[in-house]
Amino acid sequence: MTKNVLITGACKNTGYGIAEKFAENGYNVFITSRKEEESIEASKRLSAKYKQAEIFPLALDDSMEESAIAEVFEKIEKSGYPLSCIVLNAANLGLDQEFYTMSIEQLQAVFNTNVFWNFVLVREATKQMKKLGGGSVVFITSNTAYRVIPNRLAYESTKGALLSMSRAIALDLGKYGIRSNCVLPGMIKTDRWDANIGGQRDSLTAKTPIGDIADFDDIANATYYFGSDLSKNTTGAELVVDGGNMIRLTPEL
Ligand SMILES: NC(=O)c1ccc[n+]([C@@H]2O[C@H](COP(=O)([O-])OP(=O)(O)OC[C@H]3O[C@@H](n4cnc5c(N)ncnc54)[C@H](OP(=O)(O)O)[C@@H]3O)[C@@H](O)[C@H]2O)c1
Repeated sequence: MTKNVLITGACKNTGYGIAEKFAENGYNVFITSRKEEESIEASKRLSAKYKQAEIFPLALDDSMEESAIAEVFEKIEKSGYPLSCIVLNAANLGLDQEFYTMSIEQLQAVFNTNVFWNFVLVREATKQMKKLGGGSVVFITSNTAYRVIPNRLAYESTKGALLSMSRAIALDLGKYGIRSNCVLPGMIKTDRWDANIGGQRDSLTAKTPIGDIADFDDIANATYYFGSDLSKNTTGAELVVDGGNMIRLTPEL
């Protein structure tokens, strides 16, 4: 069975945790960054830890033309490691965008990265999966696709759009054995949470029914489930990993 995965924005935080999970399970992993040197450095760390997997650094930028992205994917295919899975993890967070003062350009930039760029990447990756007779697409979206927080309209709208895009892919590409599913994290223990940037540790959304928020491993486990054959009969589905925040009507003060 072909086990080659590409994970976007995978040089730190959640993406790196997802890369570790796939490498641990014998997948060959392409890890992307907008900065080539960061992908090389992260791939060295992964290679040293997971001898059972090939780790490939890849520079992929959301400002690249579609034709340039296609060339990158052609190189991947020619390398002999055609993609059986893609994880769309990188995101433009669209922070602090107030409804009346945010510009259309700001809105477009968030949509460009989170929706249009992801679409191009998925289309290229699934061409390879189609030839393999199947594969898996996993979008890392957010519980804010359903339950919103202030001043994040662009981000939240794109995360909601990805849920619909994933279902459309599941329907249109099911006949090729290609599945598409979404992981919806709540708050995650990233470097921003550690540093309490924007009061993340103190935020109400950090007070979950289960009493904790997600580690990288929690998101990685859900992603690996969708990405691998463990979920071979599941497509167009969503899995919320947010300590139960989605089911609560009001926060506990
Ligand atoms: N952190 C949370 O609490 C939380 C909550 C809900 C959902 N999520 C979702 O979970 C995923 C991972 O979250 P995270 O906090 O671990 O991610 P992150 O560290 O904020 O970002 C992941 C990577 O995305 C790339 N990136 C950032 N801005 C970008 C842009 N404008 N264009 C293209 N790439 C960009 C960066 O990679 P390079 O700089 O190397 O290119 C970055 O390392 C994201 O999709 C996020 O929306 C996170």
